[in-house]
Amino acid sequence: MCACNHQPVPDSEYARLEELLQEYKNQRGALIPVLQRAQEIFGYLPEPVLRRIAEGFRLPLSRVYGVTTFYAQFHLKPRGRHVIRVCQGTACHVRGSARILDRVQRELGIESGGTTEDLRFTIEPVACLGACGLAPVMMIDDNTHGRLTADMIPKILDLYE
Ligand code: FES
Repeated sequence: MCACNHQPVPDSEYARLEELLQEYKNQRGALIPVLQRAQEIFGYLPEPVLRRIAEGFRLPLSRVYGVTTFYAQFHLKPRGRHVIRVCQGTACHVRGSARILDRVQRELGIESGGTTEDLRFTIEPVACLGACGLAPVMMIDDNTHGRLTADMIPKILDLYE
């Protein structure tokens, strides 16, 4: 693995990409669905994949990059198996979400927006999670953890392999 966390990509995943490009051959408007499905295959969109998609669609690479950077759903870097969203909305802020985020960051040794080297966790900044009554709140994947204190964080993180 290189310093930017990029993993070697298995050939079988590239074979699936080729099938995908074949399936959408000659459908110029299909760039976004192809990017979505490629991201499902690879977990994110590494540069060689974007290059191959650009080639497949006969588009400049810059155009494909433009689409991936415009939509928040696309990820150009590897993401952790678990995504942690610590709410930074007003209700959570008032109830000490900064301390929660700080503890999560310290436990994992990464900043918000980062991914651990073992690809276990990614921390994503987020506004209101819609569970203000449980403030301060964080979500890990689809699970909501509410009424948090900083001391609860290590045990909660341990629940996720
Ligand atoms: S402000 Fe945190 S859930 Fe709404």
